[in-house]
Amino acid sequence: MHSLDAFAQAKLDDLQRRHLRRALAETAREDGIWIERDGRKLLSFSCNDYLNLSQNPAVKQAAIAAIEQYGAGSGASRLVTGNHPLYAQLEKRLARIKQTEAACVFGSGYLANAGILPVLIGRDGLVLADELSHACLFAGAQLSRGMLMTFRHNDVAHAHELLERHRAAHDHALIVTDGVFSMDGDLAPLGDLLAVANEYDAWLMSDDAHGLGVVGGGRGSSFTGNTHIPVPLQMGTLSKAVGAYGGYLCASAAAIDLVRNRARTLIYSTGLPPACVAASIAALDLIEREPGYAALPVQKAKTFTRAAGLPEAQSPIVPVVVGGEEAALAASRLLADEGYLAAAIRPPSVPADTSRLRLTFTAQHPDDHVARLADIIRDKVMAQ
Ligand SMILES: Cc1ncc(COP(=O)(O)O)c(C=O)c1O
Repeated sequence: MHSLDAFAQAKLDDLQRRHLRRALAETAREDGIWIERDGRKLLSFSCNDYLNLSQNPAVKQAAIAAIEQYGAGSGASRLVTGNHPLYAQLEKRLARIKQTEAACVFGSGYLANAGILPVLIGRDGLVLADELSHACLFAGAQLSRGMLMTFRHNDVAHAHELLERHRAAHDHALIVTDGVFSMDGDLAPLGDLLAVANEYDAWLMSDDAHGLGVVGGGRGSSFTGNTHIPVPLQMGTLSKAVGAYGGYLCASAAAIDLVRNRARTLIYSTGLPPACVAASIAALDLIEREPGYAALPVQKAKTFTRAAGLPEAQSPIVPVVVGGEEAALAASRLLADEGYLAAAIRPPSVPADTSRLRLTFTAQHPDDHVARLADIIRDKVMAQ
């Protein structure tokens, strides 16, 4: 066997043995919540299209019109000729929603984080990350070449302690955290983190991939309390509640101008297809116009957690932690037999021994199915 194939096969065998091998399952989504997989129709509780906007007629129409006017692709990096006229509208809209001076749109959320952190932090800098932050925040931190330290999940006192001990040895410090945690669905204590950041002249960046559109009246995790928390760097994605594709950073005009000048994932990657940008603008229109609709996914998640006897949901994401990898796979199969898609999430996406079903609720999930899912989780999954 060629050494490359032998290497790949040995790695795959190891993953298989540890129940960590993954496979792509062909999945047709036709109306947003029902999907077809392996010839079976399943109601999906695994999709991040929280408002089902990827299927919204106005959003789809905006994408079609953009293709007709500007074509299917953007042709080059935004810094060359890929900055089609729709970008300015989208960035203005994002800055308005997040109440910042400016915004910059990237090719995806992952590309945003991989690009932003190295602009702000260099070899002499410090990145403090919540230990459950998304993988792309860690990727960005590694690319920055600064010192990376993690603080215990949502433990502001630990972040404070690390800054007290290490801040002075670094030129700049950046605290990063998910706003809504992608695998646990809980919210970051952004107000307290901002106070600690300000005390040590550190900058705070929230990743609101799962916040925009669904918490804080649709504006995201900085808007969930009684007062708006002015997080200076708010990034997120257009691929979840917004129903399209792309990533963004909202910040001051100076910070955004610097990111546009220096972020390698913006400079050296082709601009988004016009359809994605147009769809995002149309989706944000709806989110701004209909806060009642934006509140539905969290309402459904709360109805579910009440009925299933789980801790109250804070977002549309509800983890059902079962522990081992095999147990999570078995729970996922059990739900598929009941007609529901609930993906098993295993390490490295979550820490060891916390494999789980990660359930997500959307505005259009029928209430009777939410109730039935709660019964199954309570009586057949948690009771195991
Ligand atoms: C918290 C978080 N940040 C960033 C991303 C990456 O965003 P994108 O899918 O747009 O690359 C995701 C999910 O994919 C996420 O869950």
